[in-house]
Amino acid sequence: MVALGETEQPRLGGISIAWARAGHATADFIYTGQVYKAPRHRGRNPGMNEAPRIRYTDGEYLLANPTWHEEDSPWKAKQIMAMAHRNDLQPRSICEVGCGAGGILEALHTLMPENISFVGYDISPQACAKAKEKEIERLTFHERDLLEDDDFYDLLLIIDVLEHIEDYFGFLRQIRPRSDYKIFNACF
Ligand SMILES: C[S@@+](CC[C@H](N)C(=O)[O-])C[C@H]1O[C@@H](n2cnc3c(N)ncnc32)[C@H](O)[C@@H]1O
Repeated sequence: MVALGETEQPRLGGISIAWARAGHATADFIYTGQVYKAPRHRGRNPGMNEAPRIRYTDGEYLLANPTWHEEDSPWKAKQIMAMAHRNDLQPRSICEVGCGAGGILEALHTLMPENISFVGYDISPQACAKAKEKEIERLTFHERDLLEDDDFYDLLLIIDVLEHIEDYFGFLRQIRPRSDYKIFNACF
């Protein structure tokens, strides 16, 4: 278990929530205590809520984020493990929506039991090319929208993605029936 304040990752902030399909929401705050202070922007910030989807597919996001945040993945995976443990989640299938370069799932694949399969989805061809290099048994990546498929998973991960989606309420409604449990982190 990772206690607040023990983390070596000081840059991230936000709220994480594990939530059960039956409607019993479990609020579990793992990133709090390290508040990420976003830089102030004069006028409009074109980077976040207003970001059009094309930003992730045309190479612009890769240019601005050459590592696709992979350096944070081992830390994020540890937080996810701790949250799953605290909430007694024992998934056999885990899917990350907006998996980027696949670092979180790769780390979880190493850390978690061998009976779990891991699937990542991302709309970005650049991110998926990086993720596909990590494919091994029980770890696969798809360059498309999860919503185009109709698979069901025990656990969905939505990590630092919500704030990149313009219609996030619509997105939440659509992913709701796609898993028993969900873990979110969002840095708005
Ligand atoms: C900040 S990155 C986070 C990547 C990864 N989850 C992580 O935490 O390292 C946001 C990701 O969301 C993806 N994304 C943006 N809009 C999306 C959508 N509508 N469906 C799926 N992924 C999306 C982007 O391509 C990008 O890889």
